[in-house]
Amino acid sequence: MRIMILNGPNLNLLGTRETDIYGERSLSDIEEELRTRFPEVDLDFRQSNHEGGLVDALHHADADALDGVVLNAAAYTHTSVALRDAIAAIRVPVIELHISNVYGREDFRSRSFISGVCTGLISGLGVDGYRLAVSHFAEANPG
Ligand code: DQA
Repeated sequence: MRIMILNGPNLNLLGTRETDIYGERSLSDIEEELRTRFPEVDLDFRQSNHEGGLVDALHHADADALDGVVLNAAAYTHTSVALRDAIAAIRVPVIELHISNVYGREDFRSRSFISGVCTGLISGLGVDGYRLAVSHFAEANPG
């Protein structure tokens, strides 16, 4: 099974960025934990600070017929029609993920352009959300 974990802008700074909200684990800590936890899953772990880079990665996931994408679109969640259209255009299921509870923060974070075209949403469970999302795909596609 092949799953893409796709992270958007500023998530390369996890571990040092607003640690009271996002915690102290870096993106490479999260990647290492997932690889250890899911040795049977072929994980394509990516990060881009650019909207178009995220769109290209989603197209790539579809062209490669991956089994799922876990997408933390970060700030583009709240602004990007292009990301919404990309998710709507592809067949691979996408789980929207946020480390923080976006519904308990500033009002502008309560608007997601992508929720309606994603399979589901995990928000506010910290970095555990990544594990839960991968585990959902792994259980949906055993073997
Ligand atoms: C985030 C929440 C977004 O509102 C924010 O812009 C991020 C991270 C999260 O993981 O909680 O950069 O997606």
